[in-house]
Amino acid sequence: MIQLKLGFIGVGGIASGRHIPAFSKIEGVELAGVYDVNENRAKEVADQFAIPFVAKEAAELFKRVDAVIICTPNKFHHEMSVAALEAGVHVFCEKPMAITDAACEDMVNAAEKAKRVLQVGYHYRFKKESQAAKRLIASGGIGDPLVVRVEAMRRRKVPGWGVFTNKSLQGGGCLMDYGCHLLDLALWLLDFPEIESVHGQTYEMVSRDPDQVNQWGLYDATTIDVEDHATAYIKFKNGATMLFETSWAANVPEDKETLSISGTQGGVNVFPYAVNHASQGMMTTTVADWISGESDEGLAQARHFVAACTSGTELIVKPNEARLVSSIIEQIYKQSK
Ligand SMILES: NC(=O)c1ccc[n+]([C@@H]2O[C@H](COP(=O)([O-])OP(=O)(O)OC[C@H]3O[C@@H](n4cnc5c(N)ncnc54)[C@H](O)[C@@H]3O)[C@@H](O)[C@H]2O)c1
Repeated sequence: MIQLKLGFIGVGGIASGRHIPAFSKIEGVELAGVYDVNENRAKEVADQFAIPFVAKEAAELFKRVDAVIICTPNKFHHEMSVAALEAGVHVFCEKPMAITDAACEDMVNAAEKAKRVLQVGYHYRFKKESQAAKRLIASGGIGDPLVVRVEAMRRRKVPGWGVFTNKSLQGGGCLMDYGCHLLDLALWLLDFPEIESVHGQTYEMVSRDPDQVNQWGLYDATTIDVEDHATAYIKFKNGATMLFETSWAANVPEDKETLSISGTQGGVNVFPYAVNHASQGMMTTTVADWISGESDEGLAQARHFVAACTSGTELIVKPNEARLVSSIIEQIYKQSK
């Protein structure tokens, strides 16, 4: 029995590579329609996945579906989400939630007013390692978190496709694209403690080097207008601090994706998962041989959205939490002017 009719808005890389395949595996879901400003692309994707309806405008889609998956460039997340929610349609919106805090606030209010689901695509929270770390910290396994270190580092991986290097469409570069995932995950693991201060700085010199070396295709170094590297130091009112760094292009020896939390009683490294303790004259590191849960975090995220829409399951990624991530990014940008 069909329980949820879905529409897809903006059917580029992430919609066709992750979301449409994931939702098509879920029982009770009908892939009902697509909309993209590029009508040829919309038709192509509709054919590829046997989706019966190609809308000429988003409003047409809202009339036929219960929920939409919004995968447009970041600039349009706000207007599309609000329009869908006002039409009574649940929304899954890709990350980052929006470009400004004010736009995020609008989205939160629209969801509350319409009493509809608004989930943001922070799929790192659905990784098995993240879920395990959440359980560990919640059960007191590391005591009180003190110092968080986040490195979401790519040595030379500026996306050479799409509009990722266009500030007016995306709002920013590596922070909006990559760093936001790890920032969101760290805040969630800490249980979103109140923030005392954010200090940050962005950089853009390395990607402008005319001697372009890039592993993810070529981009136009004369038009790129987003940051390729950012750092931040976040202080929480409970005394904990976060050292954060993200890049698309940096003169470092290798790519690195780490999130570690040192607490009063122990520490956890999320990728790869390991728990550190020191007691009884020993320093120990425990690694996981196997972690339970869904290996495909995109599918886990999609199932969770369907459950929230059809059964009112409490959201793992709450709208106000996604808003806070965008607000921190906005603060880093403001300080970097
Ligand atoms: N969660 C993740 O790890 C992840 C990974 C990649 C992208 N994303 C996010 O997904 C979104 C899309 O990224 P992508 O890589 O699929 O980009 P893309 O460029 O491949 O696709 C975007 C699509 O949106 C369409 N579009 C543009 N403006 C539109 C509008 N106003 N209305 C309808 N359609 C419109 C384009 O024609 C294109 O087909 C971005 O917000 C990005 O941050 C998330």
